[in-house]
Amino acid sequence: DGLPPLGESLVRGALDRVRADSGGRALSTNQGVPVADNQNSLKAGLRGPTLMEDFILREKITHFDHERIPERVVHARGSAAHGYFECYKDLSTVTRAAPFSHAGKRTPVFVRFSTVAGERGSTDTARDVRGFAVKFYSDEGNWDLVGNNIPVFFIQDAMKFPDLIHAVKPEPHNGMPQAASAHDTFWDFASLMPESMHMLMWAMSDRAIPRSYRMMQGFGVHTFRLVNEAGESVFAKFHWSPLAGTHSLVWDEAVRISGADSDFHRRDLWEAIEAGAFPEYELSLQLFTEEEAEQFPFDVLDATKLIPEELVPLTPVGRMVLNRNPDNFFAETEQVAFCAAHIIPGIDFSNDPLLQGRIHSYVDTQISRLGGPNFHEIPINAPLAQVHNNQRDGMHRQAIHRGRVAYEPNSLGGGCPFQAGRMGFTSFPRSGAEDKVRGKPELFADHYSQARLFWQSQTPVEQAHIIGGFRFELTRVQVPAIRERMLSMLANVDETLVGAVAAGLGMAVPPPQPLATERPLPKLAPSPALSLTAR
Ligand code: HEM
Repeated sequence: DGLPPLGESLVRGALDRVRADSGGRALSTNQGVPVADNQNSLKAGLRGPTLMEDFILREKITHFDHERIPERVVHARGSAAHGYFECYKDLSTVTRAAPFSHAGKRTPVFVRFSTVAGERGSTDTARDVRGFAVKFYSDEGNWDLVGNNIPVFFIQDAMKFPDLIHAVKPEPHNGMPQAASAHDTFWDFASLMPESMHMLMWAMSDRAIPRSYRMMQGFGVHTFRLVNEAGESVFAKFHWSPLAGTHSLVWDEAVRISGADSDFHRRDLWEAIEAGAFPEYELSLQLFTEEEAEQFPFDVLDATKLIPEELVPLTPVGRMVLNRNPDNFFAETEQVAFCAAHIIPGIDFSNDPLLQGRIHSYVDTQISRLGGPNFHEIPINAPLAQVHNNQRDGMHRQAIHRGRVAYEPNSLGGGCPFQAGRMGFTSFPRSGAEDKVRGKPELFADHYSQARLFWQSQTPVEQAHIIGGFRFELTRVQVPAIRERMLSMLANVDETLVGAVAAGLGMAVPPPQPLATERPLPKLAPSPALSLTAR
């Protein structure tokens, strides 16, 4: 759109110091020693054995031997792009987060889209949830909004995440199938986990086979907190909506494309950006107070629930444009490390027990995926904001810290960092400490009302696709009891749905189960404190 995006040049500048353009340069070893012959190893005579002494051959092969790093434990397959986020309006009444400080403010971003279950080389058009992870290189440090293209999740508590992923990944004895869901273990787990019903409806719908990364929504999923300068807080949900509209494939297309071009989404994103058709997404917020949340018929800390827009409308607050492809897939797309714990002043966590577990998981896994505790220094992960602290050493440390002091308090350091006080991040005060307990709030027990809401929101064509999705998946399930349990769950969602799926499987329709209390949506007066007019 004409203007060079502010911040873009900063990211380019920051990465420039590590860019290597070797065209026309003399070949060298990693020690900078010129290499005269890149074709032949050093041998004891023309037909003799290769010599141990050939340090040039050994360096080249040793480096090659270690080229691969572990793939992500989930979301291994992904594609990414650079761009910027532009804020429509000063949001300082609700948040002091730097990207929202004034109208027109641009913050550089790096965005990675992904599938969840498949391996790094798996196909793009599998039926699966898509990751939608955005790294904001803000003035006050990196903020990662690590979301998905579906607004809810399968489970309510981080304790269940390893079980969910073990059920969805290829079965451990034979490594099959690569497909996200079409197998016994996934449906076994799902059929024993009624809280997954709402997300299963989305996963069997067209949303799980997007047409393009440029044409899907993104959601922060959890309830977050926004905090303003005065320390006051409101709850927020984050929504990204693509300017190109939300579009899906149909199943037959997805299967055919998968055979013809397993890079379909990766190619589409790359080519659109190369052609100057920059993908654009609008960011909207749903803002609500704690008092309003208490009136909702569900718990806002439950990630299997969304907040219907009739209850809390969307407020558009900015747009994101993706305008540059990475220079190097490995250095950027593969080594980028998103983390749900990366928040900045003005944004805070809620007590959602799924989010709380994520706060731990990302850095922990990246320490092994990216080889030690210093991966924040890898250029794509390094913030544009300056980093000053007393953390030292560790594998692959890049920074060369000067001076004799790496502790605080000290009286010898002179140039040591000082704590930023009110300027810096402070956690939103929690309400009084409660007794420690392993359990769930009562409203977490309603597993079906929003699954039904989703079903009712779909057109007849979309409903037919959902029925087709369940039929396709469940016909591949070998164990009859799993199919029966899934039908029992579907019977709690909708009579037509369960009837059509049961007919497709040649099975009887089970009777509906007694349900947990479901509460109707209340009518809320819009809260004047939260009305932010967009643009
Ligand atoms: C990636 C853990 C739930 C979105 C990952 C990774 C781990 C992980 C270990 C790999 C990170 C890496 O190697 O860099 C968890 C845990 C969860 C959870 C423990 C629940 C307790 C979620 C939810 C969402 C989500 C609810 C969506 C709101 C993502 C995305 C990525 C990811 C988008 C890929 C980031 C990228 O592109 O590199 N998750 N996750 N995860 N997760 Fe989660």
